[in-house]
Amino acid sequence: MTDAGRHPRITLHTMSEIVGVKGYVGNFDVKIVKKARYVDEKECTACGDCVKVCPVVRPDEFNMGLSSRKAIFSPFPQAVPSAYLININECLGHNPSVCAKCVDACDKKCINFHMSDEEISLNVGTIIVATGHEPYNPKELDEYGYTRFENVLTSLEFERLVNAGGPSNGELVRPSDRKHPESIGFIQCVGSRSARKGSEYCSNICCMNTIKSTLILKEHYPDMEIKVFYMDIRAFGKGFEDLYKRSRRLGVQYLRGLPGTVEETEGGKIRVAVENTATGKIEFYELDMLVLAIGIKPSKGTRRLQEMLGLQLTPDGFYLEAHPKLQPVDAATRGIFYAGTAEGPKDIKESVTQASAAVARAIRLMHRGEIKTEPITAEIIDEKCKFCGKCAEVCPYNAIKVDTKKKTPAAVNTAACAGCGTCAAECKFDAIIMNHYTDDQINNQTDTMLRNKSEERILVFACNWCSYAGADYAGVSRLQYPSNVRLIRTMCSGRVDEKFIWHAFLKGAPVVLVSGCHIGDCHYIDANRWTEKRIEKVHKKMEKMGIRPERLQLEWISAAEGIRFAGVMKKMEGLRKSVSEHEITETVEILKKKMKKKKKQRS
Ligand code: FES
Repeated sequence: MTDAGRHPRITLHTMSEIVGVKGYVGNFDVKIVKKARYVDEKECTACGDCVKVCPVVRPDEFNMGLSSRKAIFSPFPQAVPSAYLININECLGHNPSVCAKCVDACDKKCINFHMSDEEISLNVGTIIVATGHEPYNPKELDEYGYTRFENVLTSLEFERLVNAGGPSNGELVRPSDRKHPESIGFIQCVGSRSARKGSEYCSNICCMNTIKSTLILKEHYPDMEIKVFYMDIRAFGKGFEDLYKRSRRLGVQYLRGLPGTVEETEGGKIRVAVENTATGKIEFYELDMLVLAIGIKPSKGTRRLQEMLGLQLTPDGFYLEAHPKLQPVDAATRGIFYAGTAEGPKDIKESVTQASAAVARAIRLMHRGEIKTEPITAEIIDEKCKFCGKCAEVCPYNAIKVDTKKKTPAAVNTAACAGCGTCAAECKFDAIIMNHYTDDQINNQTDTMLRNKSEERILVFACNWCSYAGADYAGVSRLQYPSNVRLIRTMCSGRVDEKFIWHAFLKGAPVVLVSGCHIGDCHYIDANRWTEKRIEKVHKKMEKMGIRPERLQLEWISAAEGIRFAGVMKKMEGLRKSVSEHEITETVEILKKKMKKKKKQRS
C-alpha cells in the first residue's frame, strides 16, 4: 500500500465512496465522495501529540475491539497517508467546541473542524472492482458460545492477538484473565458449508489459516495442546498439503467432527462436546481457549455497486464473471474487471494473481487509445422508430437513449451495447436490427429446419452461453438425446422475439423450446427476465387463440448441465409425440387467419 501511495501515476482516494457511475468502456464518469478527515493530511506527520490528549476512548476496530483507540487516530499502523483522522461522531470538540485539546496540542495546526466532505468527479476508461469481503459474524451460532464466553474468539481476533503489532504485542493471552493458554481448540467451517446458518459455499481460506495458526503456535509454544475440529481439511494449494502434514507431525490433533455444544466450566475452561466421526464416539475436551475459523461473506456495498455498474451477482452474492473459464476476471459489462474476494472466496496468492490479470486486461483494452467494438450490436432504423422508449427500458447496459418528449429516434451507443438483442425482440415496430442475428437470418434458419417433415422436428432456440454450450457438453459427453432436435443459436434468450415463435408454429413446428441461462446467470445481466415475461405473454395469447400453450416451453439450462439438456430434449420428444398432425394444421390455419386480419387492419 505504501508503494501504491508513492507511485507517481497512482492516486489513492482514501476515506472515499463511489456514489455514481455513468458511461461505458473507455468513458466512465465516476462520482466520488471523499469524507472529511478533519486533519490536513499533507501537514500531519503522525507525531501522536493529539492522540495523547484526546479524552475519548473507543474500541479499536483494527484490533477487533481487543484494544482501544482515541477519537483522533490512525486506522492501522501502515495506513496511507500516514496522517491521523478524526471520527467526528465520537469527537467532543467540534460542535460546540467543548474540548479541542487536540487543536491546542498540534504544533503544526493540522486540525480543522471546518473541513467538509468533498465531491470528486473522474473520467476513467476501465474500472477494476476490488471491494473485498466481510468476515462472518458468529453471533448467530449460539452453540459455540461466542457471545457468552470471553475466551471464545474468532480467527480474526486470534490473528490480532498473536500479531507482534497487536494488542498484546504478539503475546498470546486469554482475554478473560490475560493468562497464557496451555490448550487451544479451533473449530472449522464456522459460517461456511452450512445450509442452516451462514453460507453454503466453502470460504476457501479457513483451513489453511488454521493450519498456519497452529504452526505459529507450535513454533512459539511447542508444548501447547492444540486440537482442530473439522469436517474435512481442504489443503489444495501449492505446498499446502506439506504444511498440513507438518502441523500434524508437530503434534496438532485433528479431530473429525464439529462440536455440538460449548460450555464454560467453573474453573474458566471451555468445555467442548463433539462427536468424533472417525471413532463414532461423543468426546469431551476442556480447553483454555477456543478459536472459531470464520468464513467470508460478500462485502456490504456489493449490491449497491452492482446496481451502479450494471454487474451480475452469483446466488452467493459475489460478483459474477463474464465466463468462468475464458473470461475469469472480466465482468459482463465491457471495461469492468474483478480482483480478489469481491468475485468469490480466495486466498492472498489467488487475489494477487487475479489482480495482475485484471490490470493486464485493463491495459490491453486501454493502451491503443481506442477500442474496437463488437460487430454484434443493435442498430436503429430511424424511420421506423416511434420513440416509445421500450428499447431503452429493457437494455441491461443503458446503451440506448431515446428522448420520448422531443420524439427523437433511439440511438445505440455501440461501445456500451453488448449484443444481447433484447431491444430488438421487444421493439413492436421492428425498428431495430440486431446485426448478425437479424429477424431474417433467424426466420430463414427456422424455414430450413422445418422444410421437411416439420411435424417430426423439435425446434430449440438456445442462448450461446449456457444452453447451446449445454448441448455441446451433452454431445462431447456422448449423451443420447432425440436426433430430431434442431437448434437455433442466439446470443441470449432475450433475443428470441415473439415473432420467431409464431413463425415456427406457422411453418408447422409441433413444439418450440426457448432455452437460456438460469435466472441470475444470464451473461447480459438480467436480459433473460424479459424472456420469461415474453414467454408468459405468448402463453396467454396461445390460450386465447386455442393453441395448446404447453407446445411452447421455456427451460433454463447451464453450460455444465449436459445431462439436463439431454433430459429436457427427451421430455420435448414426449411432448412432440402428443401433438397430432391435425393439431399442427389447425394451428397453421389459426395463425394464417390472424395474419390476414392484421394485414387488413393495416391497409
Ligand atoms: Fe443466456 Fe442471456 S445469455 S439467457
